[in-house]
Amino acid sequence: MKTEIIEINPEHISPVSIKIAAKKIQEGGLVAFPTETVYGLGADALNPKAVAKIFEAKKRPLEDPLIVHIAQKEDLFTLAENIPDITQRLTDELWPGPLTLVLKKSSKIPPIVTAGLGTIAVRMPANTIALVFIEFSQTPIAAPSANLFGRSSPICAQHVLDDLDGRIDIIIDGGKTIVGVESTVLDLTQNPPCILRPGGVSIERLKKILKEVEIYKEKKILSPGMYRRHYSPKAKVILVEDDGKVQVEKVRKLASCLNSQRCSIGILAKEENRDKYDGFNVKLLGPENDLTVCAANLFSVLREFDKEGVDIIVAESVEEEGLGLAIMDRLRKAAGVVL
Ligand code: TXA
Ligand code: MG
Repeated sequence: MKTEIIEINPEHISPVSIKIAAKKIQEGGLVAFPTETVYGLGADALNPKAVAKIFEAKKRPLEDPLIVHIAQKEDLFTLAENIPDITQRLTDELWPGPLTLVLKKSSKIPPIVTAGLGTIAVRMPANTIALVFIEFSQTPIAAPSANLFGRSSPICAQHVLDDLDGRIDIIIDGGKTIVGVESTVLDLTQNPPCILRPGGVSIERLKKILKEVEIYKEKKILSPGMYRRHYSPKAKVILVEDDGKVQVEKVRKLASCLNSQRCSIGILAKEENRDKYDGFNVKLLGPENDLTVCAANLFSVLREFDKEGVDIIVAESVEEEGLGLAIMDRLRKAAGVVL
């Protein structure tokens, strides 16, 4: 299959181009598209055959359920049932945006979308190209991140092409995504509501709306974004979780030690520590005090190390506040070793 790339300028969205992509969805094809978080790999959520192609293209296990994307808040009512009252405030304040809600599913959705679960994950992305594309497709769009299973999520069209060239019909190239990490997955079927995956909406923000909110601790896998060793680059990742000077010292020692064993080493560092690793291949996550920048860079930097053929990435940690929780979640899952 030849993968066609359709470039769309987010400032001047061409309806003609979006219609080509929307038609492909209606024909049961696969279209990768930008959202505010990462690129998604979309298919018609009401067409089980089309949805099956997503799992095939990504090599994703069938027991990992998909998020359904909508362009109108009201569409939630056709996809979900027994919707709790708090949903209204959450969607009023945070949709469109990087928040996925898990609710009891309606019978409209084929089981392959939800991996046979009685619940469905739904979100309305804050990206105009995505919204117009879903609207024109005239159907809800099931879409996981547009990467091969287990790899880092794509934040630009090139990342999608690197993983899925020849495996999908169309990639809508709408430039780099803004948030850079995936949406927060919030389960509203539990009481109190429970964060299954930290993401673009912080727990601090959710606490302004919800009286109580829990963070899911790994007991069993409810949300397969929780698979350990997920979001992984090809290189091994060693994550060093210490503060300040101790962290820099540990990273430097470890990198020197590995270097002497003829491994190709990369260091993933915060901007402030740029000068602390002279002579090493350092890439910067972003400034310590601007975690939005760090989140936006994370998956790109991991993929850059891969392109250079680095064997081991030694990564600094960030503070687990705001988006830091999502960044550390992804780094821990990418890491084979946490020190
Ligand atoms: O930002 C995002 O969420 C991106 C963009 C494309 O929207 N999508 C994304 O999809 O990250 P994916 O498939 O890579 O991750 C979806 C997560 C998985 O952890 C999945 O297990 C969880 O959502 N999920 C989906 N349906 C669920 C359900 N019914 N119950 C619990 N978890 C669910
Ligand atoms: Mg994913």
